Amino acid sequence: MPAFDLVIRNGETVTATDRVCQDIGILDDRIAALGTNLEAGKREIDAQGKLILPGGIDAHCHVEQMSSSGIMTSDDFYSASVSAAFGGTTTIIPFAAQHRGQSLRAVVDDYMACAEPKAVIDYAFHLIISDPTDAVMGQELPAMIEDGISSFKIYMTYDALKLDDYEILEVLATARREEALVMVHAENHDVIRWLSERLLDQGCGNPKYHAVSHSRIAESEATHRAIALAELVDTPLFIVHVSSEEALNEIRRSQARGLKVMAETCPQYLFLTAKDLDKEGMIGAKFCCSPPPRDESAQEAIWEGLIDGSFQVFSSDHAPYRFDATGKLSAGPNPNFKQIANGVPGLEVRMPLLFSAGVVGERMDIHRFVEVTATNPAKIYGMYPRKGTIEVGSDADLAIWDPEKQVTISIDMLHDNMDYTPYEGKEVTGWPEIVLSRGRIVVEDNSLMVERGSGEYLRRARASSAQPTGNLVPEVDENSNFNAKIL
Ligand code: URP
Ligand code: ZN
Ligand code: ZN
Repeated sequence: MPAFDLVIRNGETVTATDRVCQDIGILDDRIAALGTNLEAGKREIDAQGKLILPGGIDAHCHVEQMSSSGIMTSDDFYSASVSAAFGGTTTIIPFAAQHRGQSLRAVVDDYMACAEPKAVIDYAFHLIISDPTDAVMGQELPAMIEDGISSFKIYMTYDALKLDDYEILEVLATARREEALVMVHAENHDVIRWLSERLLDQGCGNPKYHAVSHSRIAESEATHRAIALAELVDTPLFIVHVSSEEALNEIRRSQARGLKVMAETCPQYLFLTAKDLDKEGMIGAKFCCSPPPRDESAQEAIWEGLIDGSFQVFSSDHAPYRFDATGKLSAGPNPNFKQIANGVPGLEVRMPLLFSAGVVGERMDIHRFVEVTATNPAKIYGMYPRKGTIEVGSDADLAIWDPEKQVTISIDMLHDNMDYTPYEGKEVTGWPEIVLSRGRIVVEDNSLMVERGSGEYLRRARASSAQPTGNLVPEVDENSNFNAKIL
């Protein structure tokens, strides 16, 4: 009787800290043994010449989500999870998005009902809070956090989503009390609005003006303000999709002062620029996302932040809107930049793009690659060490990479439900060949091996390690400062 269900032999196991030639023994859905000369498995995989990495965790993606302007993402939980798996990602954390007036319970129930019959890999949810009423903050949100949704995103821009500073303070205080983590989309709404109105008045409606209206100052001012509000309430903060050096420097300054500020960046800020929004006709619409890609010097700064640890997480911010009337062109064939759905796809290529340019391109240590694509998201979002590492007892979520495989990215080879990729024609080296989720082979021989709905929902731990202990008690000191006193 074989000791294991599956043994992977002769590969090099790479985690955030170690690189070891060893076998991996898998029993049921867990890693049961690591070592040399493991006993036989019912099935064996020879991983000679391959790297075995923890399956990726994409902690920021939009799946089967209606945007605030009423446009549906092209991916549902089936196509998104299949696409993620083919790119080496074994866990996704999309958003359950509250639109104003909706109850959080109803929102979460809806997303659960969408995901459960379709997802092929494991999934959790963040909430999006757009309507922080007393009932939502006082009863609904604590109940959701108790149920394992321990992080939520708020917006400082978009008419239908934005919270004012008072509301943000209320949300931060609730997160502190309930040991949850606030993620913030930091862009100054009025700066964007003011610039947009002037641009449109002058007839500047082409997609390239999206990048002008979402100026770096809009991002850095909001980043600074969000950090200041979190400092006032003495609670950690996570800044999503950072695009510019100015915002990065705000984050660095706060981290140097000892504040618990974390941040992520995304492929579009390493591999695209605002010039992509200036392509012929409406093609630039394919690259419109918020914040927008900047210039080459911002790309360099963002690389630096990823390498030096200022960013903890690399997510896709997969927001798939097709280049047709269901998505980018929903307002007609020639929309102005305000009418174009914001977002770019990237779930499947997130890890290969970074592996190729970062690890193969020798900009980034492979351990750092594992950290930002898998280990840190697991830690920050309450799933570690079940997810995000290769340890005895961890879920057998593994991506067996061929580090030399050359791939030219094209929409035809991807598995999402998009009709374009912003990275069309880009050549990368390294791609995952076999992908396992809880011991099940999900991808092998370029084929999907599992059934719809075989992914599982993950209840996440509270973000207690990120939070200070004690209650928030307002105290005024002798200099008339409000302090969040910790009891
Ligand atoms: O442009 C973007 N990033 N769209 C997706 C929604 C969001 O703000 O993350
Ligand atoms: Zn956002
Ligand atoms: Zn997003």
